[in-house]
Amino acid sequence: MSGELQGQVVLVTGAGRGIGQAAAMRIAARGGAVGVVDIVDETASATAAEITQAGGRAIALAADVADRTAVLAAAERLAGAFGPLTGIVNDAMWIRYGPIEGVEEEVLDRMLAVGVKAAFWGVQALLQHGSQGPRAVVNIASPVADLGMANTASYTAVKGAIAALTRQLAVELGPQGIRVNAVTPGAVPTPGARSIVDEAGYARRRQQTPLGRLGEESEIAAAIAFLLGPDASFITGEILHVDGGITVKSM
Ligand SMILES: NC(=O)c1ccc[n+]([C@@H]2O[C@H](COP(=O)([O-])OP(=O)(O)OC[C@H]3O[C@@H](n4cnc5c(N)ncnc54)[C@H](O)[C@@H]3O)[C@@H](O)[C@H]2O)c1
Repeated sequence: MSGELQGQVVLVTGAGRGIGQAAAMRIAARGGAVGVVDIVDETASATAAEITQAGGRAIALAADVADRTAVLAAAERLAGAFGPLTGIVNDAMWIRYGPIEGVEEEVLDRMLAVGVKAAFWGVQALLQHGSQGPRAVVNIASPVADLGMANTASYTAVKGAIAALTRQLAVELGPQGIRVNAVTPGAVPTPGARSIVDEAGYARRRQQTPLGRLGEESEIAAAIAFLLGPDASFITGEILHVDGGITVKSM
């Protein structure tokens, strides 16, 4: 496959389904080689197989992104298969909503590990197994980093940290030629999102979204691929909202 991501080697976490899977497929369709990381071995393998069958380049890398050693090992395998990494998409997430009084320590620890610590490991993996040339990090934020939403304290803590880390790392890593950006998806009914948002919740989100509809995985994937690619060569520290306008709507 050829395209604007030709020559890129990108590790995509959470790529077994949902937005991460769409991103992996988009990157491959634009010529990039992809390391498909997911904690669920079968879905990582299925995504990699689908990419390969379509003529793209991918390997499945089952790993828990909260585990630093596993993330670094996945990056090493990807570099061994396709060459030094040029990018990382920190997409994987595990979410529990609920009122703050009921937040349990193990659940909060796990969300912080998968949502925040994993982004550190992803960036370290890019530094250890990356190319010497231009490189890019794409993190996935959320509207909860911009707006208050009841019963999402743990998730907001994760995504607020990711938004701040995106700006911070853009400053720290810019001199090394590494761009660091984030995408904020609006409401996208992925398998994961559907397990925590019911139909009434989606009706409210449609109504709150100026474009009047939910997003599609492919629309988020397009923004991720753009931020990885040469057309975004002077963009860093940016949090690109791909949300149908939900975060700019007033009362
Ligand atoms: N879908 C939305 O409406 C929406 C909105 C805003 C932000 N987001 C963000 O987009 C990203 C993707 O969300 P999604 O809706 O596609 O979710 P999803 O649950 O459908 O997919 C997430 C994937 O991550 C994997 N995963 C979970 N824990 C992991 C771990 N420890 N190690 C490796 N893989 C792991 C899961 O197995 C799954 O395949 C997340 O960061 C989420 O917070 C989603």
